[in-house]
This record gives sequence, structure tokens and C-alpha cells, in this order.
Amino acid sequence: MQIVIIIRQSLCNTATPYLTNFSALLPMLCMDKSQNHSADATVDASEIEKFSAIASEWWDINGKFRPLHQITPVRLQYIKQQILQNILSASERINSIDDVKILDVGCGGGLVCEPLSRLGAQVCGIDPSAATIEAAKKHSTEQGLSIDYQATTLETFAGSERKFDAIVCLEVLEHVNNVSDFLELCRNLLTDNGVLILSTINRTTKSYAQAIVTAEYIFGWLPTGTHDWNKFITPEELKQILERLGFRDCDTSGLTYSLLTDQWSLSEDCSVNYFLTCKKAG
Ligand SMILES: C[S@@+](CC[C@H](N)C(=O)[O-])C[C@H]1O[C@@H](n2cnc3c(N)ncnc32)[C@H](O)[C@@H]1O
Repeated sequence: MQIVIIIRQSLCNTATPYLTNFSALLPMLCMDKSQNHSADATVDASEIEKFSAIASEWWDINGKFRPLHQITPVRLQYIKQQILQNILSASERINSIDDVKILDVGCGGGLVCEPLSRLGAQVCGIDPSAATIEAAKKHSTEQGLSIDYQATTLETFAGSERKFDAIVCLEVLEHVNNVSDFLELCRNLLTDNGVLILSTINRTTKSYAQAIVTAEYIFGWLPTGTHDWNKFITPEELKQILERLGFRDCDTSGLTYSLLTDQWSLSEDCSVNYFLTCKKAG
């Protein structure tokens, strides 16, 4: 492990710095007086800055978000399966998620919002990166889709008191401050028995080797500095937080990549990428 940390530090010193645009972040850095707490406590401004700097690439399937495009078919398979199993009653499960109200937190350019909307769900996507939401809106308009995109923080959006049947939050937890507060805000936006579907990266030696060294430095699949290993969370840690917040029926599933076939698939191996789904107690 020590060797891994030393390699990591030397690689980080050579990492390409992202462009800086602090002015775009200023509105988020003020206090939300109506709720008397910071409107962006779970937002790490430097993370938002990284995503805003590459927002023009969200829909370039060979660009910086190529890995997200590659995993999207498997993500959809998983999300649909979880919604059908957990939200809809047996008689409603005719393989359709029509009219299910879904909130995508940290939706990025809408890679998952768009196919969910095509499947008939009522989709709302939020992201603190204004440039990202611009890209999402532009693309969905071109596609003739009706998706409610909002450039806002989870704190501010939670003030709207809207409720959703399902919240998806994919590849976001590793970029936020205070995961517990973040998940509590998600819980408050769910209906009773609503389902929270998360995907993130485990904190293991293997995840360091694959998600950082291989993906960022060897193959260059992701911009260097995209991930901070210390922000990764294990499924056990995540489950503990969720159960404390009143979630139940936590279910995990691994998302694994095969170099041989260049394919992603669902698996039982949660050592690097994994999904965790749970239900808000009714
Ligand atoms: C790796 S991208 C994932 C995008 C999308 N969920 C997907 O999987 O296609 C992470 C996204 O999380 C957003 N993000 C970062 N911190 C956030 C926070 N505190 N609250 C909500 N979104 C956040 C970023 O702006 C970025 O769009």
C-alpha cells in the first residue's frame, strides 16, 4: 500500500491542471438564508470546476466521458430492473417504467436521463455545474425529449419539497463533500418506500490500481486527477450510513470490466465499481 501511495503522489505532481472559472461558482458559494445553512455544503467547488471545464465533451462518445457512455447500457439494465422490482406492484410490472418520477442527482450531460425519459419516466436532472446543465439541455432539446434539467445544488433543490419515486445518483458520491449529509438530502426528496440507486467506486487497492493508475495514467480513459482515492467509499461504510438514515433492503451489485472482451457487465465483484440500491422506510 505504501508503494501505491508513493506512486500516486509522484503521478499527481505531473497531473494536468484543469481550467479555472471561479466566477461561475460564486452564486453557489453563498448562504441559503431561507434554510439557514450553506446552500452548497456538500459541493466541492474544485470538483465542479473540473466537470465544467470539459462540459462541451459530454456527448462525444470518444471524448473524456467515453467510460460513462460505455457503461450506460449496463446502468440502464440495472436501474430498470431495480425500479421494476422495488417500486411497482406485481400487477404494474409489465416491463415498463412509464410515468415513474425519477430524479437524477449529479446528472452530468444527461447520459442516463435521456434513455430513462425515452422509456417513459418523468425525469428531472440536477447538477451544480451550470455548463454541464447547458450541455444537457441543448442535447435533450435536439433529441426532442422533455427533461426537467436544473443547474442547482442538492441543498437548494431539496427546499422545493418535491418528491420522487426513485433517485439515481451515479458516479457522484466520490466527488461530494460529506456523503452522509448528501444522502440525507436525497432521502428527503424520496416518497415513502421510494428507491435510491447509487453507483460509486470502492476504496480498495484494486480500485486504486484500476480506477486511478490504469484509467487515468496508463490508458488515459479519464483526465488525470479525476478521482481522489481517499474519497472512495466501501459498500459496508455506505450501507451503515444508509441504515442510520432509515433506508432498508440494501442490495449491492458489482460492475466489472473485461479487458478481454472490452465489455462491462453486472457481477458479484464489488471490489472496484459497484451499485447499491436501498429503499426509504415507509
Ligand atoms: C462522473 S460525473 C457523473 C455524471 C452522471 N451521473 C453519469 O453517471 O453519467 C459526476 C457529476 O457529478 C456532479 N457533481 C459533483 N459534485 C456534486 C454534488 N455535490 N452534488 C451534485 N452533483 C455533483 C458533477 O458536476 C458531474 O456532472
